Amino acid sequence: MTTRILTGITTTGTPHLGNYAGAIRPAIVASRAADADSFYFLADYHALIKCDDPARIQRSRLEIAATWLALGLDVNKATFYRQSDIPEIPELCWLLTCVAGKGLLNRAHAYKASVDKNVEQGEDPDAGVTMGLFSYPVLMAADILMFNAHKVPVGRDQIQHVEMARDIGQRFNHLFGNGKELFVLPEAVIEEDVATLPGLDGRKMSKSYDNTIPLFGTAKELKNAIARIVTDSKLPGEAKDPDNSHLFTLYQAFSSAEQQAAFRAELLDGLAWGEAKQRLFELLDGELSEARERYNALISKPADLEDILLAGAAKARKIATPFLGELREAVGLRSFRTQATAATSEKKKASKSARFVSFRDDDGSFRFRLLDAAGEQLLLSKSFADGKSAGQVNKRLQSGEELDVREQDGGFAVWLDGEAVAHSPAFADAAECQAAIARLREALAPQE
Ligand code: TRP
Repeated sequence: MTTRILTGITTTGTPHLGNYAGAIRPAIVASRAADADSFYFLADYHALIKCDDPARIQRSRLEIAATWLALGLDVNKATFYRQSDIPEIPELCWLLTCVAGKGLLNRAHAYKASVDKNVEQGEDPDAGVTMGLFSYPVLMAADILMFNAHKVPVGRDQIQHVEMARDIGQRFNHLFGNGKELFVLPEAVIEEDVATLPGLDGRKMSKSYDNTIPLFGTAKELKNAIARIVTDSKLPGEAKDPDNSHLFTLYQAFSSAEQQAAFRAELLDGLAWGEAKQRLFELLDGELSEARERYNALISKPADLEDILLAGAAKARKIATPFLGELREAVGLRSFRTQATAATSEKKKASKSARFVSFRDDDGSFRFRLLDAAGEQLLLSKSFADGKSAGQVNKRLQSGEELDVREQDGGFAVWLDGEAVAHSPAFADAAECQAAIARLREALAPQE
């Protein structure tokens, strides 16, 4: 069995060393595994949500494409494409938009953060919020579900989006699958031991802090950036503490155990910071110089890059085009020629019911949600240490036994054996809360 791994890179910036160590390098390594079937793409439709500078969008797409190829992504093994070359993705996005609960999207972190900020500043809650930003998770769900990805490597800030893709995919399966799993339900993968590189000032390396080291600048630019790394003011000859030096952390991310031990000993022995920076420069230049040459060669031939990406898109569309055809059939966008055979699969009434969605929380614990027919959250369970206990409670709730529902904190909780096992969200007023309790009772009522 191969595992399909898929991830997108939003094309708004130029990759830096932190992107390389944290995302690009592990992704390329993963794509080489014998059982890996990797889909990596430039999320350039997503980029439009954040950036309205066409020149920057275009430049970033080119630079990111060249970066991945220069660093050794094998496009014969992996599938590498631009999101905007796959028209099936926005089409699927619409099909998913029609089943995604607005309430689900109201809870997306990125949208909520904008609203919170507006409210804090006394603005209209949705000031400056585009539909693109609001629907961002649906487009991302389309990216993922289009190719039935099993695993989606992402940063922590994206876990919620992958969960939403799961939710939306599950709902679509439920409504239109006729018992068949149309979509594979994806899982977010967080690389625990991948380096989060510190930037020049010791905070996380990030474009927004302006503390990055360029990946494919000239050797001189690399040297200048390294010269700006902040160190303490210990003089040459004074012992330096490697464990409190982000210069050492940067060195560690690209060196062998022996190199690290030797560098550590030198620092403890009083190596001057200027010398230490020279060591780091040599290490990084050694790591990057060949790829930098390939990068420059690729950037200077954009037409070749275009061909490579179009070939990648053609490969991806071999999967996307027939699959989207199947999905159009499933929702009822069918040719009139096949009218006679299609009449049989009328939707069952049961498909409009509420459903449970299980998931792993950031801390590894097991939880579940109960969503009503419209996709609105009715309950969020407490955290369970293992999937089995979560499953048992889930089962009890569906067993038809009398529900112990208690109102609290503007919402309600469901109690089992003297303990609150699941909570509702808070509601605007008592009427909304009562209506939700009614939907809960209906959802969990024994089926005849
Ligand atoms: N939103 C992701 C980010 O900003 C990029 C992205 C778009 C993505 N579509 C995706 C990641 C699909 C994984 C899967 O990092």
